[in-house]
Amino acid sequence: MKIISIVGARPQFIKLGPLSRELRKKHKEIIIHTGQHYDAEMSDLFFEQLEIPEPDVNLEIGSGSHGMQTGQMLVGIEKEILKHEPDMVLSFGDTNSTLAACLAAAKLKVPSLHIEAGLRSFNRSMPEEINRVVADHTADLLFAPTPEAVKHLQKEGLGEKTVLTGDIMADSVRFIQSKIEENRFEGRAYNLLTLHRPYNVDDPQKLATLFRQLGDADVDFIFPVHPRTRAVLKANSITVPGNIKLIAPQGYIEFQGLLKYADKAITDSGGLQKEAYIAGKPCITLRPETEWVETVEAGWNVLMDINDPELVAKIAAFNPNSDRPDLYGKDVAKRMVREMEGFL
Ligand code: UD1
Ligand code: UDP
Repeated sequence: MKIISIVGARPQFIKLGPLSRELRKKHKEIIIHTGQHYDAEMSDLFFEQLEIPEPDVNLEIGSGSHGMQTGQMLVGIEKEILKHEPDMVLSFGDTNSTLAACLAAAKLKVPSLHIEAGLRSFNRSMPEEINRVVADHTADLLFAPTPEAVKHLQKEGLGEKTVLTGDIMADSVRFIQSKIEENRFEGRAYNLLTLHRPYNVDDPQKLATLFRQLGDADVDFIFPVHPRTRAVLKANSITVPGNIKLIAPQGYIEFQGLLKYADKAITDSGGLQKEAYIAGKPCITLRPETEWVETVEAGWNVLMDINDPELVAKIAAFNPNSDRPDLYGKDVAKRMVREMEGFL
């Protein structure tokens, strides 16, 4: 098979790692990086740490409005598909890079595979929700990570092109374990905090209120700051209490090390909700809903409002100890490549 894998944002590099390695055992893979994320700490570092070959092409689209970013990606990806004539185009998740990849392939009638299909928040104000729905409805083969995702796809009439494969991030987490050096933060107990969703971080008032509240907690918060959030913090003079430690975006090895020794994860990230579950860390998700409902049902993830006046007390009180059944599978990349071979 000749496959074009299309990635552009941090979580997609993490998902590509194990799949690319498995694919390349028998098949030809061409990696196209849209350039959506471009800082070395958001991109290059992940290729290096996850041992992913350098992209064959970087479209260098960069940041911009949704229409501009997606439109320019579409033009660039179309050219590459026409040039390489792949058997299949592969995309991950729900970013603008995913949307452009699925649209470009569909218009050129090239078979397209969407990985992490069937996730739904049912909140159309999220750009990701639009991207997911379009990706699932335009792709020819859908790899769903969980039975919940399969259910959503069946309801939308997409059951016939759906395969329950497990979650590729389970393979990414397993791969990185052997590389985690001692990354224990010297100091008090800490919670690991990440925030990057526009509805949480684009309003500086929300961040200021959150920081004021967390400042009263008897625990530190280590906060690797996403560039979107960094831009908001920089443009507004928000006071950062001493127990919130702002640090640069971390590599995957360092970040998983921080998670390993953290008490809890507090986040609006999709990936971290799953990683916290796998690592056995209670997760507080600062969102009104989540796509990863099975972590909530298992008792290890709880939704809270970012400006809930009781936030600090509720975080301290959330101490699940129920069993953690395996929700995401293992050897997922192997399964995926077998399914792709069967499809083509
Ligand atoms: C994107 C995805 C989101 C995903 C997230 C993962 C969309 C619509 N959003 O959000 O689904 O969860 O990636 O992290 O596709 N910036 C830099 N350096 C970079 C990249 C971004 O400084 O390397 C800054 C720029 O100011 C940019 C802003 O971050 O405007 C937002 O970047 P963008 O890729 O548009 O969206 P994310 O918030 O990163
Ligand atoms: N991550 C990382 N370094 C960081 C913050 C996050 O390696 O400083 C990893 C994290 O382990 C997870 C992924 O990046 O696998 C999540 O990416 P992000 O939160 O940007 O996007 P989302 O998962 O919400 O789409």
